[in-house]
Amino acid sequence: VTITYRTTLDGITSDCLVGFFVGWPSPPSPNTHLRVLAGSQVVALAVDNTTGRVVGYASALTDGVLSAYIPLLEVLPTHQGRGIGTALVRLVLDQLPGLYMTDVLCDPALQSFYARLGMTPAVGMSIRRYAHQSGPSR
Ligand SMILES: CC(C)(COP(=O)(O)OP(=O)(O)OC[C@H]1O[C@@H](n2cnc3c(N)ncnc32)[C@H](O)[C@@H]1OP(=O)(O)O)[C@@H](O)C(=O)NCCC(=O)NCCS
Repeated sequence: VTITYRTTLDGITSDCLVGFFVGWPSPPSPNTHLRVLAGSQVVALAVDNTTGRVVGYASALTDGVLSAYIPLLEVLPTHQGRGIGTALVRLVLDQLPGLYMTDVLCDPALQSFYARLGMTPAVGMSIRRYAHQSGPSR
């Protein structure tokens, strides 16, 4: 299996975005997922060349001056443990040069994963509106 890393959505349709948001009670649809990625200034995709399917992705939002946030990172369960997640975070960080701060929220179990990428633990706060987990109602 050959994996290609990309930083644009060229040629990516919602059909390429199947199987993500594992464990989410109300997962966004593939079409909503595509909107999430299209609305992010920075994306990194790992694409399986044989199927054209996305097997991992990461996104980032930034003010372009001081700060950035990485809201989403996921590798399909079938493709985890092969360095794809690490490569995706690196690819996102490479597209955010010169910023003062880049933040990600994660569970304690994942702190060692991000520490290997040069990140340090921090305390954060958040709001989760579960009624909107699958995307905005409209
Ligand atoms: C986190 C995630 C993206 C890592 O992707 P991946 O492609 O499996 O990561 P890598 O292969 O680059 O793993 C690098 C290291 O991180 C460790 N790691 C990966 N996932 C981990 C997890 N959930 N908890 C603890 N350590 C983890 C691996 O053990 C690996 O270490 P090793 O090489 O010594 O075995 C993937 O597990 C995933 O999609 N998880 C579900 C969604 C999620 O938690 N996203 C992050 C939100 S903050």
